[in-house]
Amino acid sequence: MIVAPSILSADFSRLGEEIKKVEEYADWIHIDVMDGHFVPNITMGPPIVRSIRRITNLPLDVHLMISNPEKYYMDFIKAGADILTVHVEATHNLYRLVTEIKKYCKVGVALNPATPLASIENIVDKIDLLLIMTVEPGFGGQKFIEGMLKKVKKARKMMHGYISVDGGVAASNAALLKKAGADILVSGSYIFKSKDYGKAIQSLKKA
Ligand code: DX5
Ligand code: ZN
Repeated sequence: MIVAPSILSADFSRLGEEIKKVEEYADWIHIDVMDGHFVPNITMGPPIVRSIRRITNLPLDVHLMISNPEKYYMDFIKAGADILTVHVEATHNLYRLVTEIKKYCKVGVALNPATPLASIENIVDKIDLLLIMTVEPGFGGQKFIEGMLKKVKKARKMMHGYISVDGGVAASNAALLKKAGADILVSGSYIFKSKDYGKAIQSLKKA
């Protein structure tokens, strides 16, 4: 199981130290980019990705929750994203965007909870990763939507690449997510609000 701590729940005043504390146990670092338009929250942009790139060799899993991803994706590639994920709801030209991103790094497509799998049916063999949101995107610390387990199972049947789940992921649902077919667990508050980040990550990996 790949575990990608989401730094959204980290202490931003000590971001470097927070990343160093998870580095030994984590597989990827998940970075949530929010624009206050596609989602009702504002977080970080390319300069932060660039700074993180300088302090870790872990793959940077950049999750764009922004409108107009076609205008900004290159800035995140240049900043050092290894995997760049865009939301299907945020673009009218998903095929073109996926094709462009794929020239430079791995590409992911994310689906909000209400967005059906049918929306990526025609592009599923072009993408490296499918990110299934298990909460409505925008904030850390929300409750896992149980109904998304069915979606993960269904996605597993149509997707050969990575299936990632994001939102409310904790030790209590990690085994179910694995059984449903998830390859990557993105987890923010469960890790960064725990006393021992290493232990929390290991409990997810053990699932
Ligand atoms: C939510 C973000 C998530 C978030 C998950 O919109 O995409 O990556 O950080 O946080 P938790 O694990 O606390 O639900
Ligand atoms: Zn995310």
